[in-house]
Amino acid sequence: MPLEAVSVVKKLQEMRDGGYLSDPIMREAVIQIEKSDPKYDWVGVYMYNPDEKTLWLHNYVGEPTEHAKIEIGQGVCGTAVAEAKNQVVNDVSKVENYLACSPSVKSEMVVLIRAGDEILGQIDIDSRKKDAFGDEDQDAVQRIADKIADVLVAERREA
Ligand code: SME
Repeated sequence: MPLEAVSVVKKLQEMRDGGYLSDPIMREAVIQIEKSDPKYDWVGVYMYNPDEKTLWLHNYVGEPTEHAKIEIGQGVCGTAVAEAKNQVVNDVSKVENYLACSPSVKSEMVVLIRAGDEILGQIDIDSRKKDAFGDEDQDAVQRIADKIADVLVAERREA
């Protein structure tokens, strides 16, 4: 069954209303995305640190990765921030500066978590299938990323 963004967003909002902070909410988002579709083999949230110009891995489901920190401009993840644009790579072997997590990964999608022009982080998904990601995947994951952005911005206001 494909990812049902509406029900995931609802669940995340319920957590927020129930007093949970952004960390467990981002963990739940990753768990829900990963279990929604067998083609999502690795799902993680990276947060952007604008002072260091790096992405740091907040949480993930899937094989362990060496890429707990990624510089802006590096790999698919760092390119998404450098270009301020979601990335859909249908064949990772064609990406020159690709940062491989596992040799079995064939395609990858990065969806930014942003508040207006400000990039807060991203949801990164790897698949062992080529051409795994289409517009529907991107739209669904974007809704979840937007909900995470709402939670992060609201939490910042309360701090
Ligand atoms: N492949 C990513 C690195 C992160 S891993 O997929 C977990 C990239 O090229 O940026």
